[in-house]
Amino acid sequence: GELKPWEGKMTEVYSSIHTVNTQGEYTPTLLGTVPHMTGEGALDALDAACTAYNKGQGVWPTMKVADRVACMEKFVAQMKTQRDEVVKLLMWEIGKSLPDSQKEFDRTVDYIYDTIEDYKQLDRNSAKFQKHEGVHAHIRRGPLGVVLCLGPYNYPLNETFALLIPALIMGNTAIFKPAKHGVLLITPLLEAFRSSFPAGVVNIIYGRGREVAAPIMKTGKVDVLALIGNSKSAIALQDQHPNKNRLRLVLGLEAKNPAIVLPDADLDLAIDECITGTLSFNGQRCTALKILYVHDDIISEFNRRFAERVDTLKFGNPWDEGVKLTPLPEPDKPDYIQGLIDDAVDKGAKVINEKGGQITENYIFPAVLYPVTKEMRVYEEEQFGPVIPILSFKDIEEPLNDMAESNYGQQVSLFGQDVQTIAPLIDTLVNLVCRVNLNSSCQRGPDVYPFTGRKDSAVSTLSVHDALRSFSIRTFVASKDN
Ligand code: G3H
Repeated sequence: GELKPWEGKMTEVYSSIHTVNTQGEYTPTLLGTVPHMTGEGALDALDAACTAYNKGQGVWPTMKVADRVACMEKFVAQMKTQRDEVVKLLMWEIGKSLPDSQKEFDRTVDYIYDTIEDYKQLDRNSAKFQKHEGVHAHIRRGPLGVVLCLGPYNYPLNETFALLIPALIMGNTAIFKPAKHGVLLITPLLEAFRSSFPAGVVNIIYGRGREVAAPIMKTGKVDVLALIGNSKSAIALQDQHPNKNRLRLVLGLEAKNPAIVLPDADLDLAIDECITGTLSFNGQRCTALKILYVHDDIISEFNRRFAERVDTLKFGNPWDEGVKLTPLPEPDKPDYIQGLIDDAVDKGAKVINEKGGQITENYIFPAVLYPVTKEMRVYEEEQFGPVIPILSFKDIEEPLNDMAESNYGQQVSLFGQDVQTIAPLIDTLVNLVCRVNLNSSCQRGPDVYPFTGRKDSAVSTLSVHDALRSFSIRTFVASKDN
C-alpha cells in the first residue's frame, strides 16, 4: 500500500569500533540502518498490539497453553540459526568481547527454554483445585494486556528478551524498543518473530524514547511498562500515562553495588573478583561493583596489587584473543569518565594506577581512584564505565551506614573468612540489598535466581520464575459445595 510519512526513512547505525579511513583518521564504522520512526509509526505499533490483545478477547491471550508454547518453540528454534550473525553484531555494535557475546546469545536461548518449561509447570499447577471453608477454587494466571518493553544497550539481546519473552508467553501482546546501541542485532531475528507469532503480538519500534515511547504512554493504553535502564527514563515515561493506577511497572534500574573487603579476606581471591566485578564489559553492567570499601589494615597492599592488575588488562577489539577491555559504545562516555576523574582529583583523590585515565581514540583506560570521599561525584553517581573508586574503613559501621543512606539497594560483595564476623553481617546486609555475594563479585545470574533490588534499583523481580508472575495476574474460578 501507500507508504506512511515515516516509512522508507532510515536511521544509520554506527559501530563502537572505529576504523582508519583513507586519510588515516579514525572514524566510526557504518554498520547498517534501521527504520527512522516517529510518534505516528509508534502509534501504529500500539494499535496493532491493542488489536491483537483485543481487551483480552484476541487470539493470543485466549490461545491454549500448548499452542502458545509451540509458537515460542518455533521462535527459539529459528533464533538459534542466527547465532553467528547476532554475535557478530553484538561485537561490532556495542564492543562486547567474543566470549561474552556468545554467552549473551546462549544465555538468552536458555532463558527462553527455561521460561517455556516454567510456564508449562505453572499451567500444570493451575490445574489443581483448592478448597477452603467450602469454597473450591481453580487458581490460574492471566495476562495483563499490552506491554511496552525497553531494553538496555549493555545486554541488548538478553535483557530486552528477559522482559519480552515472559510477557509474551503469559498471553500479553508487546511493543518493544531496542536500545539505541545494540539495535541492529534485532534485524536477523525479525523473520523469526514474523513467522512464529500471530500478527500484532510482537511489534518493534525504533527511535528515541521521548519521540516514540512517550506518545504510546500518553494514550493510556499501555498496561505494563517494562524497562531495564535508568530511572530518569522510567519516571519520564510513567509520567506520560494518564492513569498510573492502571499501570504495572517492571523495572530494572541503577545500582552502586559495593564490595566490602574485611581485614582477613583472601586477598588474591578478593582482587580477582573485584577486577571481574568492576571491569567486566568495562563496568557497563548494573550489577558491576561500583565502589570498593577496603579495611584500613590491608588498604596499602590491596591498592598496590589491585592497581598493578588493572594495568595488565588488555585493551583491543572484541574478537582479539584474551581481550578484557573493549571500545565503548557511547561516544561521550570517555569525556564523562574523565569528568569524574578530574572532579575526584580536584577534591583530593589520586589515580593510583599508571595507565589510569589514558585516552586512546574511543577509550579511556580504567582509573583506580583513592582515597574517595563523599563530596566526590564518583562516590554518588553510577559511573557505568571504567573508573573504580576506593574508600578505606576502620569500622564496619562506615560502609553499612553508607549503604543504608544510598538510594540504591541491589547487591553487595563481602570478602572475609571469619564465620563469626560474617554471619551477623549477612543478617544486616540482606536488609540493605537483595543479594549478598560471599567472596565473589556481584552478578545477575544464574537467571533462575531472583534479580531485583531495593529503593531506586528495581520495581518487581526478574528471574525466569518471577518474571512470569511479574507479567501476569492471579485469577480464579470459584464454586461452592451445594
Ligand atoms: O546491567 C545489568 C545486568 O543485568 C548485569 O547482568 O550480572 O549477568 O552481567 P550480569
